[in-house]
Amino acid sequence: MLDLATTKVHDEQRQGESFAPFKEDPNAYNKLFYIESYGCQMNFADSEVVAAILNKEGFGATRKVEEADLIFINTCSIREKAEQTVRKRLTDFKKLKTARPGTLIGVLGCMAERLKSKFLEEEKLVDIVVGPDAYRSLPRLVDEANEGQKSVNVLLSREETYADIAPVRLNSNGISAFVSIMRGCNNMCSFCVVPFTRGRERSRDAESIVQECRDLFENGYKEVTLLGQNVDSYHYIPKDGNESDAVSFAKLLEKVALIAPELRVRFSTSHPKDITDEVLHTMAAYENICKCIHLPVQSGSTRILQLMNRTYTREWYIKKVDRIREILPDCSITSDIIAGFCTEEEQDHQDTLSVMDYSRYDLSYMFFYSERPGTLAQRRYKDDVPLELKKQRLQEIIEKQNQLSLENYKKDIGRTFKVLIDGDSKRSAANWVGRNSQNKVVVFPKNGAHKKGDYVMVQINDCTQATLFGTII
Ligand code: SAH
Ligand code: SF4
Ligand code: F3S
Repeated sequence: MLDLATTKVHDEQRQGESFAPFKEDPNAYNKLFYIESYGCQMNFADSEVVAAILNKEGFGATRKVEEADLIFINTCSIREKAEQTVRKRLTDFKKLKTARPGTLIGVLGCMAERLKSKFLEEEKLVDIVVGPDAYRSLPRLVDEANEGQKSVNVLLSREETYADIAPVRLNSNGISAFVSIMRGCNNMCSFCVVPFTRGRERSRDAESIVQECRDLFENGYKEVTLLGQNVDSYHYIPKDGNESDAVSFAKLLEKVALIAPELRVRFSTSHPKDITDEVLHTMAAYENICKCIHLPVQSGSTRILQLMNRTYTREWYIKKVDRIREILPDCSITSDIIAGFCTEEEQDHQDTLSVMDYSRYDLSYMFFYSERPGTLAQRRYKDDVPLELKKQRLQEIIEKQNQLSLENYKKDIGRTFKVLIDGDSKRSAANWVGRNSQNKVVVFPKNGAHKKGDYVMVQINDCTQATLFGTII
């Protein structure tokens, strides 16, 4: 899985996790659904909206695909590999359906949007195809499918934000939750399929966001991550309000931070062209806004950035990094990087490696370029870097990142961090695992009467390139 290679497992690479049921009493529901999600955090958050919509209609979630009446797969189109993974998984589901003909299979998300009704032609055993803005119509589509009719709804919307739907938290540790603050994307990065699968950008009602975060906190959650493809362009004007009432991302961050000092606030993703000083100053002003910015560079070469239509230059990016370091000296910066974009030469690749050195990323998600049908790059440019070379450059980028991560993590040895306990460490129940403000994973022996969701001060005494080890002080 070279194109998904990263130095650390992250939600974006969480694949195919099934969701925990809300099924205290299995007899309470006449039908059971199973949902599996791929792709970015937004897709995982959407699955929680889907679960809420289905729950309301009397469907209960199950973790066991074999017992489900309805099998949903929430799909991703970002790279060819992501779509292949979904197709493979569908083959498994189709086998189940052959054994249990009454089962319905529904394809949700970005691949549904991209392929639309073509999906039904290509995958004969699929019954329902629903795009990201059409989940409210799911109950009706399920009814139609039960009557033997194949159903498709891939209408994109300019308004839909599911603001009024309280997501059913699935597979959650009860400590951190994702909260969608906007949908779609108005940027047209030439490599990217998202604007086509998710439609126009729209911001969700600020009050509904704050309310959702407050409810989470009141239910014991200690961390919310505000999600959008480009959170810095969040801009919400209340109904009947005007521009002077607009809520910017910085304002929204502040509103959420003010809910409670014990509620940590994170966000993703920031676009280098849009992140403002106001956001950085808001981060500095509130201890509970975590000091971690995901600022994807994509490439370190201005020429390539222009072809990518990222609308910033190498120099602009470097200035943003400087600005972050100036206002938030303790802030972690992470990135996404694409190797082997159209026309990329050795010098461009070297520019990417050097911008990584400059930015000293704690973590990057690194991919080789995968041409996507319908995108600007596919229509305008030739995918002319040979696969072998793409992979070789990606490997160099990965090695660079590994080295940077290790160097950065080593610098934390001797320091003390406030860590939010996520739960037992996977390796041993004698240890806790948690994260610091910089989102670095910290593992430390249990000591005293702490529990999941507590904050503890941990002094670091060892590390790998992806984990800090320490002791509670
Ligand atoms: N909105 C986010 C990114 C969403 S997609 C942003 O603007 O940063 C996540 C990452 O997938 C992108 O940052 C990019 O690095 C990668 N990606 C997107 N399209 C790709 C493609 N066609 N080939 C390879 N990687 C791609
Ligand atoms: Fe894709 Fe660019 Fe939008 Fe991110 S900002 S989702 S990379 S078009
Ligand atoms: Fe994939 Fe769609 Fe997210 S293409 S990365 S699931 S927005």
